[in-house]
Amino acid sequence: MKSTISIGILGFGNVGAGVVQLLNENRDLIERRTSKSICVKTIVVRDPKKYRHLDCGNAVLTTDAIAMIHDPAIDVIVEAIGGENPAFEYICEALKLGKYVVTANKEVISKHKKRFFDLAKAHDSDIYYEAAVGGGIPLIRTLKVGLAANRIESLHGILNGTTNYILTKLNDEGKEFGDVVADAQAKGFAEADPSMDVSGLDTAYKLSILASVAFKADIPVSEIPYEGIESIALRDMQLAAELGYTIKLLASGKQLSNGKLSFKVCPTMIPRHHPLAGVRNEFNAVFIVGNAVGESMLSGRGAGSSPTGSAIVSDIIDIAFDSHRTSLRNLEYAFDKVSLAHESELKSQFFVRLLASDAPGTLATIATILAHHQVSISKIMQKPCTNHVAEIVFITHSVAEDSMSSALIGLETDSVVQEIVTKLRVGLDEGDPV
Ligand SMILES: NC(=O)c1ccc[n+]([C@@H]2O[C@H](COP(=O)([O-])OP(=O)(O)OC[C@H]3O[C@@H](n4cnc5c(N)ncnc54)[C@H](OP(=O)(O)O)[C@@H]3O)[C@@H](O)[C@H]2O)c1
Repeated sequence: MKSTISIGILGFGNVGAGVVQLLNENRDLIERRTSKSICVKTIVVRDPKKYRHLDCGNAVLTTDAIAMIHDPAIDVIVEAIGGENPAFEYICEALKLGKYVVTANKEVISKHKKRFFDLAKAHDSDIYYEAAVGGGIPLIRTLKVGLAANRIESLHGILNGTTNYILTKLNDEGKEFGDVVADAQAKGFAEADPSMDVSGLDTAYKLSILASVAFKADIPVSEIPYEGIESIALRDMQLAAELGYTIKLLASGKQLSNGKLSFKVCPTMIPRHHPLAGVRNEFNAVFIVGNAVGESMLSGRGAGSSPTGSAIVSDIIDIAFDSHRTSLRNLEYAFDKVSLAHESELKSQFFVRLLASDAPGTLATIATILAHHQVSISKIMQKPCTNHVAEIVFITHSVAEDSMSSALIGLETDSVVQEIVTKLRVGLDEGDPV
């Protein structure tokens, strides 16, 4: 590769600006490490007037993305506009021209990775996406290189900083969900519309990317069951704490002993002593089990201009080291044919909070219904009641997911139970197929 690498950046928001700032701040260090000079030549936005106050060095601000992508002087296109389109078209165009692409865009990578890898292979180009999962944490490279000698048995991650911030504040400050979201928005930790984060969809996109790197599985997000944190009440947090747990929005990927893979995103009660339970505020972390390395955890800032800039610039540096254009370690030449476990094949422990009539025999009725569906109780508590309504909370032993579902239907239809308020999975170990 040439001694100067010319960059074109699509987007000059949080991420685009973070890349420009980091390349300026650490210019000497990066040049010493790579023996190359890395220069931003062109930055594309929709409305250049908005960016007049920002320092973009010698780069030209333009609105013409296609001209920038076709500029023969530009070697690397950094895509930092977000969303599916036009990012998809721009990335395809760049790869067809044999250019390197670096992106922070989880949605476009999750949906179109196969197409991008095929184009890169056909046109001797390459695509890097370290920033798309876990912000500044070097997760993709760790899985591809650092843990390359391992068969990954499982990974469990906190992959969305906004939801982790909200759950931490629910726990610490004793406020209700809506108040904590408003506070997170005011502090810039949640978008004006936080639905993609709190619904679990953002985490599901990231899990589908990790599935491709860790398990060589091309799993569309539509095949990953996901639940968000919207229904987590302050009361659930308090009860979880009393029982020795904390609630996190957890992405899980696991290989079962029958060879099937299981992926899901759901709020989960994690034992207080587990390393993931200590991951607070906007931090992200992934707890990986490899068959050789055993347990290992990576944690750090999952978002923000500077951490995300760190991941993108590390990809650019990787490109600077690469003298062979297409790097074999980046391209998923073929995904494995995998089969996904159905939820009914999985086991988990469950936490249930319900309201029932405060009458003699209620606990016995509940225990009988659960036993009828092969659900056994590990812990049960009855809280002081109001207006003859008792709050009953229990944690099950590890049970088949469909046994739990039918037990809940049994409880709901019995006259002693007024309402099942919360059902949460407990712990990381989903057990093996039933
Ligand atoms: N923010 C983070 O901490 C973070 C972390 C990891 C990954 N990411 C990912 O990084 C990407 C960018 O996020 P961001 O936070 O930097 O977004 P942002 O602050 O909203 O910035 C988006 C930038 O893209 C430009 N843009 C949008 N559509 C465009 C188009 N069609 N043509 C040209 N320019 C366009 C915007 O220009 P105008 O203002 O002129 O419209 C703006 O400069 C997203 O995929 C996001 O998921 C973000």
